[in-house]
Amino acid sequence: MEFEIISSDISTFNTECLVVGIEAKSLLTASAELLDLACEGAIKAVLEDGDITGKTGQCLMLRNLPNIAAKRVLLLGLGEEKKRSDITHKTIIKALFSQLKSNNISDVTIALDDKVNKDGDIYRQLRLSVQQACAGFYQYDETKSTKATPSALKNIRFAVASDQTENAEDGLLDGTAVANGMSIARELGNLPANICTPTYLSKEAQELADGYDSIACEILDEAAMEELGMHSLLSVGHGSIEPSQLIVIKYSGGKPEQKPHVIVGKGVTFDTGGISLKPGSGMDEMKFDMCGAASVMGTMHAIAEMELPINVIGVIAAAENMPSDRATKPGDVITTMSGQTVEVLNTDAEGRLVLCDALTYVERFDPETVIDIATLTGAVIVALGHNTSAVMSNSDALANELISAGDYAADRTWRLPIWDEYQELLDSNFADIANIGGPAAGSITAACFLARFTEKYNWAHLDIAGVAWSKGKEKGATGRAVPILCQYLMNTAADLQSQ
Ligand code: BES
Ligand code: MN
Ligand code: ZN
Repeated sequence: MEFEIISSDISTFNTECLVVGIEAKSLLTASAELLDLACEGAIKAVLEDGDITGKTGQCLMLRNLPNIAAKRVLLLGLGEEKKRSDITHKTIIKALFSQLKSNNISDVTIALDDKVNKDGDIYRQLRLSVQQACAGFYQYDETKSTKATPSALKNIRFAVASDQTENAEDGLLDGTAVANGMSIARELGNLPANICTPTYLSKEAQELADGYDSIACEILDEAAMEELGMHSLLSVGHGSIEPSQLIVIKYSGGKPEQKPHVIVGKGVTFDTGGISLKPGSGMDEMKFDMCGAASVMGTMHAIAEMELPINVIGVIAAAENMPSDRATKPGDVITTMSGQTVEVLNTDAEGRLVLCDALTYVERFDPETVIDIATLTGAVIVALGHNTSAVMSNSDALANELISAGDYAADRTWRLPIWDEYQELLDSNFADIANIGGPAAGSITAACFLARFTEKYNWAHLDIAGVAWSKGKEKGATGRAVPILCQYLMNTAADLQSQ
């Protein structure tokens, strides 16, 4: 698939299908108006007959319009201007690509002006359109014997005003990089846990480093982690035959003296719950418990593709959580790399156990900021559902930056508090801290646990348990939190350059 920006006269442009927008109440967008003029009112005539009214996502395919070079013209409903949002944008792009698919179109030119976003930001419109289009083209077939048929669509052109081409080009490039990162994250998430093991993740990281001069990779095996005293991370993998891995991916796009931003992903490649075994129903979905790690991998790909002028270190704490005679038992006390002891009251609260040691490990990088990304708690789904991730942070500035990055990238997050009064819920009679805090405020106590290991730097935690994958008929990884992470890093790079 090739994306391209053009700014030529759309009425004389040769393409298999030209797409123009119709706003609610049969209003023509500027592009539709221009075409209508060229074809002497043929579009207005169709609107007057009421074939299309411009409802969000409505489609009407026209052929043989006089004086128009395009073979077909697709009228696409954009809905009411004041109701336009990222949700309607998604509906519109989804409807458009499903129409193109059913007409078996291979070459399309899309002239939606700046009408799809509420704010008329062409860069952002392109970013989100490309992201949305690519998301629609992703098909999982790695473990199917019949491979997916590739899409017929080969060329996708966006027509924009000539003074907007530069913005649009940027949006297209960044959109493609983010979309590729999301596809990588989705693929890793979707792979079954008998393929996507901690060792598999480390090989993928190695391959990523082989592909870019700007990326280097270091893998710490169990012996290396033992040496560092990472007994908490190691305790999670004890019950499994798969060795745990700490994967460190270094992207150097900035000056050597620039402090790095660190992203740390939970990479539990399967979470049975361990001895605190989960119920059987829906347990297959715990193969997605490495989606935090997958978004680190996808983000590292994307920033290398965009060549962001900053330094970023991606860390993946990978382990498989299994019950066995070697597994950690409820009541066991372990010593973390930080020296703090933990009473493991529930072996199913394992995400925080792998993350805490990784969070201590990253102190050595003297980081500017550290963000961890994890499918950490079922409780976050109760609090925020399946559209919004949760952010918790020891820095108001970082939390706010993440919230606005998520807004911009259509990967929204919302803050929950981690005030000190929650900390006592983690008190233990047998160790410095317990790994669970009881039924109340489950996502907050999980983050409060992590907060004990992140006091030395600016830190934020994204709980993506509700958003990392879809359930039911559409079951599969979503590629979140790649967009918010990329956006945060892009904003950081832009701030740095404007200084
Ligand atoms: N990976 C799960 C969190 C999870 C559960 C994500 C359901 C998505 C859907 C995590 O390791 C876990 O099991 N958390 C427990 C914590 C509890 C034992 C304190 C949970 O949320 O139930
Ligand atoms: Mn668990
Ligand atoms: Zn888990």
